Amino acid sequence: MNITINDKDFEPFIEHHLIEKRTRLIGIQINLEYEKRVPVFIGVLNGSFMFMADLMKEVNVSCETTFVKLASYHGGTASSGNITEELSIAMNIKNRDIIIVEDIIDTGRTLSFLLEKIKALEPASIKIATLLLKPDALTFDVGEIDYVGFEIANDFVVGYGLDYDGLGRNLKDIYRLYVG
Ligand code: XMP
Ligand code: MG
Repeated sequence: MNITINDKDFEPFIEHHLIEKRTRLIGIQINLEYEKRVPVFIGVLNGSFMFMADLMKEVNVSCETTFVKLASYHGGTASSGNITEELSIAMNIKNRDIIIVEDIIDTGRTLSFLLEKIKALEPASIKIATLLLKPDALTFDVGEIDYVGFEIANDFVVGYGLDYDGLGRNLKDIYRLYVG
């Protein structure tokens, strides 16, 4: 069933059970690859909080978690272009194995900004896990995206952590902007 948030209609897109399934598989992959290491998961707030929480429940290697808060959307459905760091990484990550956890990679601007910041802190390695990736929107060089939940078309989506004008983050499923 379609839902309305403020002035826009959204249609069901990715059901929660499919998100669970993909998240479980990403967890398995991480468990195999990090068996002998203690990675640091860096969740990118706000959008990644749900994916981060569910992914961490699938990870069974010893690990640490922290968050960074970046904002590039300031309401609406288009990226504003300038990124603000509202909360910086509060731990020493030198020589650590980093896994960045994102809700969505759109143009890649946010991620490339974050990668520069993290690289300057001299970690041993950096990998990226994102629930959603919009390959057709990707314009910034972010290298390889190691773990991808779903590749999606260039549509605006909400739910499962993602918002429209601050609303919809609590939705269990993911919805996309209804244009029909
Ligand atoms: P960039 O363009 O920097 O965008 O890769 C990444 C950030 O922008 C937000 N974003 C979205 N948020 N629905 C949303 O609710 C979308 O379709 C969408 N696309 C991008 C998101 O915060 C992400 O971290
Ligand atoms: Mg985000």
